[in-house]
This record gives sequence, structure tokens and C-alpha cells, in this order.
Amino acid sequence: MNLGLKGKVAVVLAASKGLGKASALALAAEGAKVIIGSRNTTKLNAAAKEISTQTGSEVHCIPVDVVDAKQLTDFISKAGNIYGSIDILVNNAGGPPFGKFENFDDASWQQAFEQNMLSFARTSRLVLPFMKPTGGGRIINIISGSVKSVLANSVLSTAMRMAVVGTAKMLADELGIYGITVNNIAPGLILTDRIKHTLPQGIDPEEAIKEKTKSIPLGRIGKPEEFAALVAFLSSAQAAYISGTTIQIDGGASRAIL
Ligand SMILES: NC(=O)c1ccc[n+]([C@@H]2O[C@H](COP(=O)([O-])OP(=O)(O)OC[C@H]3O[C@@H](n4cnc5c(N)ncnc54)[C@H](OP(=O)(O)O)[C@@H]3O)[C@@H](O)[C@H]2O)c1
Repeated sequence: MNLGLKGKVAVVLAASKGLGKASALALAAEGAKVIIGSRNTTKLNAAAKEISTQTGSEVHCIPVDVVDAKQLTDFISKAGNIYGSIDILVNNAGGPPFGKFENFDDASWQQAFEQNMLSFARTSRLVLPFMKPTGGGRIINIISGSVKSVLANSVLSTAMRMAVVGTAKMLADELGIYGITVNNIAPGLILTDRIKHTLPQGIDPEEAIKEKTKSIPLGRIGKPEEFAALVAFLSSAQAAYISGTTIQIDGGASRAIL
């Protein structure tokens, strides 16, 4: 299937590794011109080089901490000025810390809000001047399966992702008139560094992964490229009528019906 992404301009946040990088790679492989951002400049440059080498597509990278309003504003402005347009925005950020409700103070809540909610709202607002005149656009938020079925120790994530779900619904409602779609992707377990770092210590990592897969109907952890294929599809011309929705990608792990 030709996804109609050739020549489209895609901005992917938090993309030096993990789900963001895989998403950028999938979009570039479909012929999109990709601009990636994250904090560590060395890792970001290496990711841009790798994506460009693998796909032959143009890849730009601009360092940014999504928590910093000025950096994020400058990032979108620079990204938009590279080609004069932004067709696709993939909102992403590092996940908030895991832990019990009682262990998080106001500062932790504020940090999670700025990183995992406010940054998405800011970028979504900042790309509108680029998307609206073109009569289309795609905003895709990377959130978490915890919006469908809560996970232990994920109170900060769950709270912020639910806010993103509500905001995306509102944006889908308000921006549909411009042909802009707004959707969320809710991953279950996809094998990235974030997941590797949360494996229990003192157990063989392969054993720990096997343990985690026990409750997943498909019997395995997902691959970043499987996640990224959904990002590419939601970015595509074929997905023009999908908006305001949250799609899970979890190998069937969530047993919730709605
Ligand atoms: N993998 C899963 O199974 C899974 C499941 C549910 C939800 N999620 C969520 O999906 C998102 C991505 O997860 P992942 O597994 O891809 O994580 P990851 O492998 O740890 O990658 C995180 C990426 O985010 C960047 N980043 C972190 N903080 C940033 C900031 N303040 N500003 C800009 N970039 C930042 C990192 O680069 P720098 O450190 O250089 O900035 C890195 O490129 C997270 O929010 C995570 O909670 C993942």
C-alpha cells in the first residue's frame, strides 16, 4: 500500500531512541522528510544519521528539551522553517517515573505535567499555523496502555495520559474543519530501553522478559517497528477519516472491552 507520505514533512519528538526513533524511521522509509528532536545532541545526531542512511530520506535533527517552553517554541519554529511546512506531528516524551501515589510530591506532578501533557499541548498549538493553510495534517500522541487498564505504579503516567486523551478529543473536534486528524497510540509493552530498565534486577533479562510476556495473549513483547507501522498508517492519506481515537498496540494484553 502506498501511504502517500512521500515528500510530507514529519516532526517527531523524543526520537533519539525507542518508540520515537522507530516512528521517525518508519516515516522516513515511506519517503517523508523527517525532523527529530530530543535532548542529548550526540545521540540525536547518531539517530538522524542512522535513519537517513537506512532510508535514503532527508533527516534533520534539532536538540530540544520538551519541558522547556522556549526550547520547544524555537524547535517548532526552526523545524517549520526548514521546508516551510509541517504535515505530521508525533508528540512524544520520556515517560514519567514509576512509583506509588504517596511517593510523589508536587514537584513530581508538575514535572510530569510539563513533560507528558503540556509539551503535547504546546507543540499541537505551535504546528497549527503550518497545518491549517494546507487543509490537512496529522497529530499523533504517544501515550500508554494505562489509559485503558491501569498498571501498578503508573499514577503519574496514567493521570497525564488521560489528560492527553481528553485534549486530543477536543482537538479532533475543533480541528476537523481544517482536515487535521488527532489520535493517540497507547502501547502496552514494546521493547525499548525504558522497558529494559524496568526489568527486575538480579534475574536473567531473558527470563524477566519471559515473565512479563505471560499475560500477553500473543506471548511476546512488541517490537518498536510494529509500533512505528501504526504511526505511519495514522500519518497516511488512507487514515484521513480516523480522528479523536486512541488505538492500543499491546498484543491483546488489555482485557478491557471499552
Ligand atoms: N516502550 C513501551 O513499552 C511503552 C509503554 C507505554 C508507554 N510508553 C511511553 O512511550 C514514550 C516513549 O517510550 P520509549 O520506550 O521509547 O522510551 P525510551 O526508549 O526511554 O526513549 C525515550 C526518548 O525520549 C527522549 N526524551 C526523554 N525526555 C525528553 C525530554 N524532556 N525532551 C526531549 N526528549 C526527551 C530520550 O532522549 P534524551 O534523553 O536524549 O532526551 C529518548 O530519545 C514514553 O512516554 C513512555 O512512557 C512506552
